[in-house]
Amino acid sequence: AELADRVPLIWLHMAECTGCSESLIRTDTPNLDSLIFDHVSLEYHETLMAASGWQAEENLEHAMEAYKGRYLLAVEGAIPTANNGSFLTVGCKGHTGLEIIKHAAEGAAAIISVGTCAAFGGVQAAHPNPTEAKGVHEVIDKTVINLGGCPPSEKNIVGTLMYYIMFGKLPALDMFNRPKWAYGARVHDNCERRGRFDAGEFVEEFGDQGAKDGYCLYKLGCKGPYSYNNCPTERFNHHTSWPVLAGHGCIGCSEPNFWDDMADFEKP
Ligand code: SF4
Ligand code: SF4
Ligand code: F3S
Repeated sequence: AELADRVPLIWLHMAECTGCSESLIRTDTPNLDSLIFDHVSLEYHETLMAASGWQAEENLEHAMEAYKGRYLLAVEGAIPTANNGSFLTVGCKGHTGLEIIKHAAEGAAAIISVGTCAAFGGVQAAHPNPTEAKGVHEVIDKTVINLGGCPPSEKNIVGTLMYYIMFGKLPALDMFNRPKWAYGARVHDNCERRGRFDAGEFVEEFGDQGAKDGYCLYKLGCKGPYSYNNCPTERFNHHTSWPVLAGHGCIGCSEPNFWDDMADFEKP
């Protein structure tokens, strides 16, 4: 598609691990090539762009100016706010993540927090949160779509981008601003081990016969009954697998404060 037909996308990295970008690049419907050549114009993404240093910063400034009011802003990572945000500075000019997000949010047509860090603070915001890390929606006053998950699946990321690109509006959101099409059901509702749960067939310890037979992981701390995400049906990495299929319970990674509220991850 011509550049003019594509939606400019600015993707910023804040306090994060890049796992969400790793998830993004595994997209297959559309695949990454099609996504960035047919549907979006990827203006800035620190781990995918060719530019570096001053040139990269110039690209970012240029994109925010040239596409003001039109670009999609995706954010990966929490925003440290203690000491005026100085726990995170990005780029040659020493701007804090907090400054960059506020600036980038002003001209964005829509803002998507990709992953639990950007959505709810994630591991950075876990107790005792020395950097006072926060989710994007807590530091700006515009609507933010929250894609919970550590990371969210590539389908939840790209599906949300494509929804906006195709319909020109935000999808219906739940009480935490997560898209309902992806986060409308509990993991437990669609889990392939749900029959085992209903029959009272539980794994008692990792490696036992029940584990080998695919029994329910509830007694080993599975948080599927309390977590809203489409992992059992959509899976990750080209539909390959998801946590319970791989043999470990859900740890609730799509939920706010899951590091504090859902731990101990291996106890009910
Ligand atoms: Fe990494 Fe998880 Fe944060 Fe994504 S949400 S950047 S995978 S820690
Ligand atoms: Fe529910 Fe977890 Fe058991 Fe699956 S493994 S049925 S999500 S408790
Ligand atoms: Fe996260 Fe649970 Fe899905 S840990 S990846 S919400 S199965």
